[in-house]
Amino acid sequence: MAIRNVGILTSGGDAPGMNAAIRAVVRCAIGKGFKVIGIKEGYRGLLRGNMEELTARSVSECMQRGGTMLETARCMEFATPEGIKAGAEMCRKMEIDALVVIGGDGSFKGARALANEGILTIAIPGTIDNDISCSEYTIGFDTALNTAVQAVDKVRDTCSSHQRCSVIEVMGKHAGYIAVRTAVATGAEVVLVPEVPFDFEKDVVNAIKEGKKLGKKHYIIIMAEGISMGAHEMAKKIEEATGVDTRATVLGHIQRGGSPTVRDRVMAANMGAKAVDLLEEGKTNRVVVLKDGIITDLDITEGLNMKKTIDPDLYKLVKTLSI
Ligand code: F6P
Repeated sequence: MAIRNVGILTSGGDAPGMNAAIRAVVRCAIGKGFKVIGIKEGYRGLLRGNMEELTARSVSECMQRGGTMLETARCMEFATPEGIKAGAEMCRKMEIDALVVIGGDGSFKGARALANEGILTIAIPGTIDNDISCSEYTIGFDTALNTAVQAVDKVRDTCSSHQRCSVIEVMGKHAGYIAVRTAVATGAEVVLVPEVPFDFEKDVVNAIKEGKKLGKKHYIIIMAEGISMGAHEMAKKIEEATGVDTRATVLGHIQRGGSPTVRDRVMAANMGAKAVDLLEEGKTNRVVVLKDGIITDLDITEGLNMKKTIDPDLYKLVKTLSI
């Protein structure tokens, strides 16, 4: 099928590097003779017909910016059969034969549904959480990590000055990828992630008491937002159990913003280019992934069915290095 227009949208939580991916898709597609339609606000914008043509100039000066120039949304309506039919109908009306979707698992399901309606779709993993099972890397992860590490370094300055314990909550939804890497990179005493059940007395209180015996005067606890306890509750309980003055810091959306790192820009450029190559080959229902360090592609359903876990050695290293 000859492609008339390639649509592109970002969906779910924004991630630094999405703009570099959009730029790559737009310029590679134009280079291959396709017209590109930028769809605003993710699937919600598709349903509303909120879209415009993107030229090579439309994506100038966007790569160094965080967020997504196309804006994004979490659209519940698109998760319904009626929403999908309406989305496919809008694509046909606007002569969008092919669509590149940048986002997480939920966005991939939307792309698969549109592929089943006959629209050629390619997905690109973009989320700070790095929680997409089929890919070793998701656009935005490295920038979010660097932001989190810089923030924890700052908290440590005040934490050590006051001889306190700091409980720092990082994002990651139901996954601990951001937490584990941040903990290793900041020399935290403890890391708590949803993938590994923890015992508050043994894993947190004892770690602080043992640290005290070893001459430590301040403590950094990194916790993923997906664990069973919130940062403020954890801080209160630590103070009660150990007598150490404790403060909670929730890093929150600061981790989602900021200028993307080189890793995110280059990964995004490569993944965007790969998506357009796949469309040119007539492929559909594929997700661009990093596998064994190489950019390749997989069937979306196959990708969605895969499982990945946090690196157990990296997780254990936090404790090993905290003596
Ligand atoms: O998926 C990215 C993410 O930032 C998660 O880490 C977090 O749980 C969630 O999005 C927050 O979503 P929202 O911005 O909709 O509050």
